[in-house]
Amino acid sequence: MEKFYLTTAIDYVNGAPHIGHAYEKILTDIIARHYTQRCDDVYFLTGTDEHGIKIQKTAAEKGITPKELCDENAQKFKNAWKALDVDYTKFIRTTDQDHEKIVQHIFDKLLKKGDIYKHSYEGLYCTGCECFLNPKDLTEDGLCPDHLKKPEVVKEENYFFKLTKYKDAIIKHIKEHPDFIVPEFRANEVLNQLEDIQDISVSRAKSNVKWGIDVLGDDEQSIYVWIDALSNYITALGYDTENPSEDFKKYWPADVHVIGKDILKFHSIYWPAFLLALDLPLPKHIFAHGWITIDESKMSKSLGNVISPTSVLESFNLEHPDAFRYYMATSAPCGRDGNYSDDDFKEKVNAHLANSMGNLLNRTLSMLVKYFDGEVKAEFKGENPLAKKALGTVQIVKNHFDNFEIAEAGLEITSLVDAANKYVQDTAPWTLAKEEKMTECGQVLVNVLDIMCIIASLIYPYCPNIASDMAKQLSFDLKTKLDDLTADNIKCGKLISKEDIKPVFLRLDSELADKSAKKS
Ligand code: MSP
Repeated sequence: MEKFYLTTAIDYVNGAPHIGHAYEKILTDIIARHYTQRCDDVYFLTGTDEHGIKIQKTAAEKGITPKELCDENAQKFKNAWKALDVDYTKFIRTTDQDHEKIVQHIFDKLLKKGDIYKHSYEGLYCTGCECFLNPKDLTEDGLCPDHLKKPEVVKEENYFFKLTKYKDAIIKHIKEHPDFIVPEFRANEVLNQLEDIQDISVSRAKSNVKWGIDVLGDDEQSIYVWIDALSNYITALGYDTENPSEDFKKYWPADVHVIGKDILKFHSIYWPAFLLALDLPLPKHIFAHGWITIDESKMSKSLGNVISPTSVLESFNLEHPDAFRYYMATSAPCGRDGNYSDDDFKEKVNAHLANSMGNLLNRTLSMLVKYFDGEVKAEFKGENPLAKKALGTVQIVKNHFDNFEIAEAGLEITSLVDAANKYVQDTAPWTLAKEEKMTECGQVLVNVLDIMCIIASLIYPYCPNIASDMAKQLSFDLKTKLDDLTADNIKCGKLISKEDIKPVFLRLDSELADKSAKKS
C-alpha cells in the first residue's frame, strides 16, 4: 500500500461541534492512525462547510457577518479536534480562496461542457438538507423526513447539473463494485434513490442567497452548496481543471470518504456524477456511519440534549481523550446507530480500559519487579502459548479495518486482553513464585508482557495516549508496523523499576472520588 487518502464530511459552521460530529472525526482518525501502521503515506483531510442559507441566516440572527460567524465557529471545530487528538493532515474551509477559485473553474468547465444549464424551477427547499426535496419523500404532514421542518417553496431561475446523464454509469459502478458503498446493505437504498433522480440545482439566485461562491461571468447567481462542498475533496489536494497538482496526482482517488448515513445520497450519486463529468476516477469507498443518539433520543437543539465533546472530557476530568475515543468508536457496529450515555460510558471504559487492560499491565509489571527486580532473564523467553491468538488478532483487526469495522476490530482487541487475563489467572504466577518455580513464573510474566506490546500497538489508533504510556513501560517501539509485529518484543535485561510503573488508565469513578476527597 503506497498511500492512503481519507476524508471526513466537512461540518456546517452554523453552530459548535457536538458529539455526532466528533464521532465521525474520531472514527476517521482511528482509521488514519491504523493505516499509518500499514503504510508510510497517509493523508487525512477534514474541514468546515461554510456557505449556504443556514449560515447566512444564523449570522443575520446574531447580527454578525457570515464570515465572522464562520471564523468563530471553524475555530471551535479545530479546538475540539485538537482536544480529541484528531490528527488531520489538512483542515480545509470552503471559504479558503484557493478552494473558491477552483470551484469556479470546475463550475465553468461543466458549463462549457454542457453538463450545467440554466433552467426556471419551482421546488421545495429544505434549508436543513441544503437541497430541493422530492414531494414524494416528504412525511405525511409535508415535512422534511430528516429535519421535520416544512420546506420552503422556491421559484427561481438556477443553473442545473445534468445528473440524469450519469445515472446509468453510476448504477453500473455500484453494481460492479459491491464494496463502493460501505456497509453493503446501504447500496440498495442508493439504487432505489437512483431510480427517480432528476437534474439538480447547483446555484441559487443571489437575491435570495448571497453567501456562496460567485458564478464566473454571472453576477446574479452563486454556486450552491453541494458542488462547492463536495469539491473540497479534490481542491484540498490542489486539483485544478487545467493543471492538477503533484499531491492530486499522488493521492486521488480517495481511499475512503467517511460520512454519515444522512448524506450518503450526495456522496454516492452527486459526487460520482460530478467526478465522471470532470473525467476523474471515483473514490474507492464511501463509508456511511450511523448516527449517535443521546440516552437513546435524537440529539436536537429543541430537546436541549446536544452534548459537546469537550464537555464530556471536562465533566469526567479526563487528562486525555482516549476513553471517550474508545467509547465512541466502539459504540456501534459498522454503519449502525450508536448511543452515548454517561453511565454506560463510565461502565464500559472502567471495565475495558482500567480493569482489563490497564490492570493486566500493572499487575504483570508489578510482579516482575516484586519477584525479579524488574529484570527479564534469558530463560524467561521461549514458546509463548498466547502468540498464535495474538498474531491472529492482528490479522483479524486488519481485515476489519479493510471493511471499516472499527467497533468490531475493537472487540477483537478486547478479546485478546481477556485471553491474556485468563492465561494469568490459569497459570497463577503468584502461586508459582510461592512454590519457588521462578523460571516458570518469569516465563508467564514475559509471555504476557510480549503480548501487551501487541495490544499496545492494536489499541494505539483508539487510545494513542494510553498506548504510548504502555509502550514506554514495556520499552516497545510503537512505530513498529503491524506486519512487522512478532510475539518476541521484550528485551532481556532490566525492564522497569518500581517507581516507573504507572497505571495507564484510572477508573473514572475512583478518579472523581479521589478528587472530591481531596477537596473536602
Ligand atoms: N456540510 C455537510 C457535509 C458536506 S460533506 C462534503 C453536512 N454537515 S453537518 O454538519 O450537518 O454534518 C457533518 C457530518 O456529521 C455528517 O457526516 C453527518 O452525518 C454527521 N453527523 C451529524 N450529526 C450526527 C449524529 N448525531 N451522529 C453521527 N453523525 C452525525 O452534512
